[in-house]
Order: sequence, then C-alpha cells, then structure tokens
Amino acid sequence: MFTYHDQFRKELAIAIAPIIEKTFSIIFPWEKAYGLFGATPSKEAGDLAFPLFQIAKEAKTNPAQAAKSLEAAFTELPKFITEKKAMGPYLNFFFNFDAIASKIIPSILSGDMFKQKLTENTPKTMIEYSQPNTHKEMHVGHMRNLCLGDALIRLHRYSGFDIVASTFPGDVGTHVAKCLWYLKFHYKGEIPKTKKGAWLGTLYTAGHNKLEDERGTEKEASNREQLTAILKQLEQKSGEYYDLWKETREWSIELMNEVYTWANVKFDVWYWESEVDSASVKLAREYQQKGLFVEDQGAVGVNLEDYKLGFCMLLKSDGNGLYATKDIELARRKFQDYHIEKNIYVVDKRQEHHFKQVFKVLELMGFENAKKCFHLQYDFVELPDGAMSSRKGNIVPLQALIENMVKMIKEQYLNRYVNEWSPEQIESTAQIVAKGAIKYGMTRIDPGKKIVFDMQEWLKLDGESGPYIQYAYARINSMVNKLGAPTSNEIHATAPQEKDLVAQLMNFHQVVEQATLQYKPSALTGYLYDLSRAYNSFYAECPVGSAPEPVRSSRLMLSKATALTLKQGLALLGIEAPEKM
Ligand code: ARG
Repeated sequence: MFTYHDQFRKELAIAIAPIIEKTFSIIFPWEKAYGLFGATPSKEAGDLAFPLFQIAKEAKTNPAQAAKSLEAAFTELPKFITEKKAMGPYLNFFFNFDAIASKIIPSILSGDMFKQKLTENTPKTMIEYSQPNTHKEMHVGHMRNLCLGDALIRLHRYSGFDIVASTFPGDVGTHVAKCLWYLKFHYKGEIPKTKKGAWLGTLYTAGHNKLEDERGTEKEASNREQLTAILKQLEQKSGEYYDLWKETREWSIELMNEVYTWANVKFDVWYWESEVDSASVKLAREYQQKGLFVEDQGAVGVNLEDYKLGFCMLLKSDGNGLYATKDIELARRKFQDYHIEKNIYVVDKRQEHHFKQVFKVLELMGFENAKKCFHLQYDFVELPDGAMSSRKGNIVPLQALIENMVKMIKEQYLNRYVNEWSPEQIESTAQIVAKGAIKYGMTRIDPGKKIVFDMQEWLKLDGESGPYIQYAYARINSMVNKLGAPTSNEIHATAPQEKDLVAQLMNFHQVVEQATLQYKPSALTGYLYDLSRAYNSFYAECPVGSAPEPVRSSRLMLSKATALTLKQGLALLGIEAPEKM
C-alpha cells in the first residue's frame, strides 16, 4: 500500500535484486528486497540488515552459506554504503553517513522531504471519532478518543489518503431524560450565564445518582413515570420537554465546539443520533418485512447465534429502536453519502460486542461494505489513584483541567519571561504547551493499553512528555536563530552523535508509515522522543557555534533539519511547536 519512499533502501534493493537472481538462479524483484531490510542488533554489526532465510529456502541452501555467497557476489555497492559483511544468516551493510546526510538534510531543509507521497493506493476512508453524548460531562477521558482520532486523521492525510472525518454525538436516550428530569424536578438554583454545557453535565450526574439512590424506595414508581413522560415527548418531538431538550442540547453543542476549537480539530460531517433515529426504525421495519429481521418475544432482531454473537435486538416491543439500530442506519448513510471504501470507528473497547453485532447484521443485510468496517478500540483513562467515576466525584472536567494546566505552566515555566514577553505571548505559549502535554500523553500509549493521566508527569520537561519535545524544538530554534545562516553547503556526519542523528532523521517516514498503517501514533511519539534525545547528545558532544567552518555550517544544518523534523512530527499529532519556551 505504501510507496517505496525510502530512497536508500530502494537504491540498495535495486542494486542487490539482480545479483540475487544471478547468484541463486531464482526470480527476485527488487520490491521484495525492499521489504526485507531491517535493523541490525547493534551499531557494531552495521546499519541495515538483509536476512537470507527466504532466499536460502528457495535456493535450497542454508542462510549463513547464502549470506556468504551474496557477500562475495555483491561487488558494486551504492555510494552510500561503505562496507558489507555476512554475519550469520544476514548480510549487513554499513552506511556512509556523509553521503546520506548530503542527500536528506537539504531535502528536509527545503521542505521537499515532507511533500513526498507515501501511499500508492489510498482507499477513501472515513474516520469517526469523538462522539460525546450531549447532556453529560466532558472529562479528561474524552480526550483520548479525540487525540487518537485526530492524530490518525493527520497521519493518513499526510500519507496521501483521502479521509473524511466524522463524529456521531449521542443527543438522545435515557441519559438526556435523566438530565432533564433532574433539571425539571429537583434543581433549585439558577441557570448559570456561562459554561452551561459543563454545568448541564453535572445535572446528568446528579440525576443519575438520585435515581440510583431512590431505586427500591417508594419514589421509584413516580420517578419512572416522570422519565417515561419525558422520553415520550422527546420521541414525539413536541411538548415542554422537547423544547427543553432543544434548548439544553445547544448548550452541550457549544461546549463540544469550544473543546474542538481549543484542540484544533474539525469534522467534515456531523451525524447525530437524533437524526438517524426514526429512519433507523423504518429501515428495521423494511428488513422485518423482507424476513431478515425476525420477531422474538415481541421484539425484533437478528439471531446471530451461528456467529456466537447472540441475538441483536433492533426494535423493542414498544416499537422503539436501539443503539444498534441507529448504527445500522448510520453505516448505510456513510457509504451512501461518501462512497467510502473503508469505515473506521474510534470507540472504546466496551463496545466491542456492539460493533461485532452491527457489522455482522450489515453483512447479512447484503452490504458489501460491511467488511470494510473496522472498530478501532482503545482502553480507558485512569487517574493515579484509580478509575474515574462521576459517582465518586473524582472525574476531571475538561475545561477546569485545561485552566489548571495553563496556570501551572505559567507558574512553573513561563514566569521567568514576565518582563520579556507580552501577556498574550505568555498565554498563547501556555496554551500550546498544555495541548502538547495532553495530546502527547494521550497518543503515546497504544490504543490497547490503559492510560494513567497524571498532570505533573505529563508536564515534565525531563521525561517523555509533549513539553519535553516542544522544549527541545524551541531550544534548537533559538540557537539556530542566534547563529544565523550557514556559510557553507558541505554536510558531514563524522562524530558518532552526528551519525546517530542522521540515522534517526532518515527514518522519519518509516515511522510515519508504521504509525499510520498500524494505527499506532505511539510509534511517532516514541520516535520524536528518541530524536530529541539524540539531538541532546549531539549538542552535548558537538559544539556548533564555536566549531570551525565548514563543521559549524554542517552542524547548523543538522540542527535545523532536526527542528523541522520535530515540528513536522508534532504537527502529525496535532501539536504545535512553540518558537520560544
Ligand atoms: N455516543 C456513544 C457513547 O458515548 C459513542 C458512539 C460511537 N459511535 C457509533 N457509531 N456507535 O458511548
């Protein structure tokens, strides 16, 4: 799917493939060779390893023998290779880093490097993410989905994919009824003038808790009646509660929009649960008539026992649809509206069974595209002292969290600039750092693993954090600005730290490819951290400003290229790089 974008591997593959064909009398296209190169176990063993297991098998010899034969036959090496050595079942290559640096550093500096097309075929893909519910609180946990989805969209677009970004907020259902119920029957205070969305979310929590507390008491029956009355009006789209829904829904939407503006994410399309609701019931009736959806004790659904997925209920006995019903109509619309070839849902892992059922039903309904649906699941966000729970009151509401973080960043890092920078500059830098901390922290862990959110940890300048990388960028940037333009074009990578840096830089697209195709932005976060550290070692060992020319210019260019790569990498995670910090 990806193009053969690593020019060095490609050149080496094109050189080695015909030698392999001749030496072993087998057919061996260079594309195959390209895919085989891998890392060596250590620098002493070389810079790139070529395994001979597969070739030896085809040629009916043993891999170590094959490596020796290939070493002997491969006499005309590309310029960027200094040496080759058969080591066990591998043929290892040693790089000429001067040659490599002379090619890639100018291409990074000119920006050409970041304009390459990385993907060959780019199926039109929809990525649905950040689907919060209205009338509920937005807390730090919601940021995981948001940051992951946004990073995946940026990575895919950068690589050349045609991406449609969508969201599907839940603006109907019992959570809405609980919130309105509390507002109508129990809330005594005033309606606040600002931040109504966050406030509304606390009413949902209060309502939910009150209903739970009163379960089994004499109040239970009347509570249920009141809730039913609310739900009925919402369904019929008229009445006092429906009007209240419309009004309050806007407050939640305003909160979402604030969060999205803050995080700098945009959706190409917003689907709403309330908009697919009645159409989804119709669709279910249609397939009931066709005989695919069947009645079972008054309810309608599909028996998925054959697939070990139980019974997927699509219409309740009162005729109402369910969550799965809406998802089926939603999928139908996505394919119809956008002719997408791949349909990704970024949703937490609790919904695994739900999506398995939905995708199976879609398939049974005859949607060819059902196979192109994919649930990208992720695990939860916890606090250092355990899971978040609104009941326990240890939820971290988003807006309050951001305010706290910004305050802390100003106090801890930016205070020293009070006399130098304008208040606006301090504020905007603090915002950039807060976003960097959250976005980096949320994407640095693989989707399948839990995240422990720890504000102090995530803001640290001496550990693996977003601010650490932002700081590395800002420092290089200041230094480069201070030293002025290079006066020579010669590029050298002689010291081990310089070679290391070049080796990292040449891997950038390899990492982007992995992060994209494996849905693992963590590959990129880890890379940026390693690159920052490689730069710090370089800076400690290789003086820049005081070095004689042409070394000074060469180091200056290496520094600039590192800064640009850090900046591009951060951008793919949706993180800005502050010019000063
Ligand atoms: N709003 C839902 C929730 O908060 C998530 C929606 C996920 N997307 C979907 N197509 N079902 O649980």
